[in-house]
Amino acid sequence: MATVLVIGASKGIGRETVKQALKAGHKVRAMARSEVRILGRLDNLETVTGNALDPEAIERALQGVDVVIQTLGVSAGPEMILKPVRIFSDATRVLVPAMEASGVKRLICLTGFGAGDSRNRGGMLYNTAFHLFLGRAYDDKDRQEQIIQDSALDWVIARPGILTNMRHTGTYRVLPDPEDWRSGCISRANVADFLVKQIDDDTYLGQTPVLIE
Ligand SMILES: NC(=O)c1ccc[n+]([C@@H]2O[C@H](COP(=O)([O-])OP(=O)(O)OC[C@H]3O[C@@H](n4cnc5c(N)ncnc54)[C@H](OP(=O)(O)O)[C@@H]3O)[C@@H](O)[C@H]2O)c1
Repeated sequence: MATVLVIGASKGIGRETVKQALKAGHKVRAMARSEVRILGRLDNLETVTGNALDPEAIERALQGVDVVIQTLGVSAGPEMILKPVRIFSDATRVLVPAMEASGVKRLICLTGFGAGDSRNRGGMLYNTAFHLFLGRAYDDKDRQEQIIQDSALDWVIARPGILTNMRHTGTYRVLPDPEDWRSGCISRANVADFLVKQIDDDTYLGQTPVLIE
């Protein structure tokens, strides 16, 4: 069983990842700027309040860790549309050298369908809405993915389709081959299922699978 650092653990996919990783028997250090609240058996959980942009906080959080799962997000709203987004690349520029320096090899990162070479692959409606509302965030996810792909780490980049709050079924499609990429929905809980499986499964190392149900 691994010791896993989840960065972006207070909400959404990150919080669900913490719950499922604990259930799978891993030890989890859960980090976010706000308090991480998880119910249930918490013997193997350590929560850390910290900013992913703070190199010292990241260096401390990496101590004793085997695997990092990065699930950062930004609040949807006018800011995300009108202003440049930097959080994804800035946080990854802090994280990757810190992992390389401390010998933590495996990074599982969440971006989204439309990042990197999956841009403009979703059909006309998806692509138009994407450019209008998510263009700036995904420009930064492009930079984030590039930093990871240029690193010496063992990485998996997960690119889910449109997120829902439906339940955890464990049934979804993992599409590593660009020929199969298309838009679709997937629950945050099923994305977390995939992220947790990558902790000790090498199948998708160095790949950027799209996830849809
Ligand atoms: N919405 C969609 O349909 C869709 C589709 C594909 C991919 N995605 C992507 O999926 C990702 C996750 O989405 P989600 O809805 O699960 O996320 P979310 O609910 O917005 O959660 C984001 C997490 O990141 C943490 N965070 C943000 N800035 C941080 C910082 N500087 N330091 C530490 N923690 C920080 C937040 O906690 P604090 O605020 O407490 O720090 C929170 O725990 C996002 O990147 C999103 O773009 C979304």
